[in-house]
Amino acid sequence: IIRIKVDSLLKIMTLKEKIGQMNQYNGFWDVTGPAPTRGGDAEKKYNDLKNGLVGSMLTVRGVKEVRAVQKIVVEESRLGIPLIIGFDVVHGYKTLSPIPLAEAASWDLEAIKKSAQVAATEASASGINWTFAPMVDISRDPRWGRVMEGAGEDPFLGSKIAKARVEGFQGTDLSASNTIAACAKHFAGYGFSEAGKEYNTVDIGTSTLHNIVLPPFKAAVDSDVKTIMNSFNDLNGVPATGNAYLQRDILKGKWGFEGFVVSDWASIKELVVWGYAKNNKDAAKLAVLAGSDLDMESHIYVSELENLVNEGHVDEKIIDDAVQRILTVKYELGLFDDPYRYCDETREKEVINSQANHEAVLDVAKKSIVLLKNENQILPLKKEGQTIALIGALAEEKNSPLGSWRIASKDSTAVSVLEGMQQYTGNNLIYKKGADVSVGSTSFINEVKINTKDKSGFKEAIKAAKKADVVVMVLGEHGFQSGEARSRTDIGLPGVQQELLEAIHKVNKQIVLVLNNGRPLTINWASENIPAIVEAWQLGSQTGHAVAQVLYGDYNPSGKLPMTFPRNIGQIPIYYNHKNTGRPENESGTPDFVFWTHYSDVENTPLYPFGYGLSYTSFEYKNLNLNKQSFQINEDVHVSVDITNTGDLKGKEVVQLYIRDLVASVTRPVRELKGFELVELEAGETKTVNFTLNKNLLGFYDNNGNFIVEPGDFKVFVGGSSYADLSKSFKVANNLPR
Ligand code: IFM
Repeated sequence: IIRIKVDSLLKIMTLKEKIGQMNQYNGFWDVTGPAPTRGGDAEKKYNDLKNGLVGSMLTVRGVKEVRAVQKIVVEESRLGIPLIIGFDVVHGYKTLSPIPLAEAASWDLEAIKKSAQVAATEASASGINWTFAPMVDISRDPRWGRVMEGAGEDPFLGSKIAKARVEGFQGTDLSASNTIAACAKHFAGYGFSEAGKEYNTVDIGTSTLHNIVLPPFKAAVDSDVKTIMNSFNDLNGVPATGNAYLQRDILKGKWGFEGFVVSDWASIKELVVWGYAKNNKDAAKLAVLAGSDLDMESHIYVSELENLVNEGHVDEKIIDDAVQRILTVKYELGLFDDPYRYCDETREKEVINSQANHEAVLDVAKKSIVLLKNENQILPLKKEGQTIALIGALAEEKNSPLGSWRIASKDSTAVSVLEGMQQYTGNNLIYKKGADVSVGSTSFINEVKINTKDKSGFKEAIKAAKKADVVVMVLGEHGFQSGEARSRTDIGLPGVQQELLEAIHKVNKQIVLVLNNGRPLTINWASENIPAIVEAWQLGSQTGHAVAQVLYGDYNPSGKLPMTFPRNIGQIPIYYNHKNTGRPENESGTPDFVFWTHYSDVENTPLYPFGYGLSYTSFEYKNLNLNKQSFQINEDVHVSVDITNTGDLKGKEVVQLYIRDLVASVTRPVRELKGFELVELEAGETKTVNFTLNKNLLGFYDNNGNFIVEPGDFKVFVGGSSYADLSKSFKVANNLPR
């Protein structure tokens, strides 16, 4: 039915009106009326809205404002086609969840889905019906600031999370007033920006493209994601926005994607800057032919496409296809039935920042925390009778824990770690800042200046540490030190924090280091010298409560790293699913050759591997079994393992399954994650966990992008990290009649 409605609407649209649907403006302007006095291009945008030359707005938010823009097109444009209102609802709208990288550390797909649902509920109550999330870019480079927005380095975990997030945003009924359209971004390769430098060139081989980069996008498409955003980068010489292979051949061709593709901000006109298009007209032509349907803020579809069609450079069918896609999503959202469906002041007041939403984000925040080290069981902290020195500017921060990419939420509204710890009144808590992380104001837009000098707070902090039974130090990055355009070449503790840590360590060794960060950091010294390390990322609105509940043992941590922590910057890119090389370290860690794959100055291993994380209890894996040793290619491989909680506390563990395909026509990684399950065990309890491997999990993409399954020898590994050491071998044969 929607198809029929869209087709009949298309028939009465002029070419200009069609192209208008392919135009998206940003709304950093006052929409209460024509705005000649308000400067910029506000008046032009207002007139374009009235004239049916705008199909979508972004960053307009709040029922009042959205209603105002929607009213212009609905009441004043000839056809009254409603706008689709897009917004970066990345990890929450006003009530904030942990940054996506942190959420990925939970490996808890239900919690992740719930977090997206909370975000959708709030955003949709505020006029928004489309989010530019999830970012599903896989990245192996923590120098790249946007790793905070993704699910880490692994395509299997990334695909599961992509699905959970899409389902969380879109729900089962897109037209419901509390669900919004999702957008898997950035198609494709952005996470492989050379040297982790923002917006840089991407040059990767077909194997990496098809096996690592594309699977999470495919998972999003299979989950019926309604939109895809393309990317700022070029891919092997062709900018993603003008890349027909990506958008037409793969996405809309092979995968049958029926939604629409939005460009990234101004990325169509940047085709000129890349040196790929001669001018704006050429850029518009290349982008539309390549399959970019909606122009975000380049303003050149609206100025160039009409001529391109009239001059015969672009077939009107291409325009019709793009518009049909955009209108279909608008119909699916229910905007044609009621353009103000997402504009309900009462719901806006009730839903935003509700108690239930805060409880939901607190739940996922606790689940996102990763315990990296806990020597002599310094954690959990005792609940009374101790003096605790809490040190580090991030401990009192209410803004930084909100993380980057949160445009709608009010600044400084997070529960700080200090506030969270103050809820536990049995101890004597002394707070000293020690040192600032950054200097001057911090914001999403402005570059953050790191404090590299001011040590005036050290003395007071040292004094407090001397008196304390335990020191809790909250150190790391300010929330705005990661995110878009926040690439760094030094990913140690920024500024004077390392010096502060060492100075405190000289007077008191009983330190619990709580890390706040939007990317893996190089924390070698801390890892060697500090007895307890808690990875607490940027956990959103409820940060302080989540951290305090973990520190005091009211929540037993179960998070696992979604991204490898390197020992030093020179190891980057370092990731668990690397190739063996022809001269690897052998299993006992010694070389078989004099010249072998290694660095002379650092081990091959990372500081903390992918999938790693501890608990306040301990787990033992035993009895790894396969139902047989030899399988036909289309037979399922059943794997089971027993896991026992060998400690004294109830706890959760992410049981992980990896495979290795020993010989293949394209070299395979030494390990690939192919299954995981989060299990909860009482102290002393044993459970059997079952996995099924089928040919979709045993195969891979060849260098032509075709999925193949090859017979041969495989190994399976099961355990609590990518270093899982229980293993079994099996064979896959292909004796089936052809
Ligand atoms: O959604 C974002 C994208 O990830 C980066 N450029 C701007 C877009 C809209 O804000």
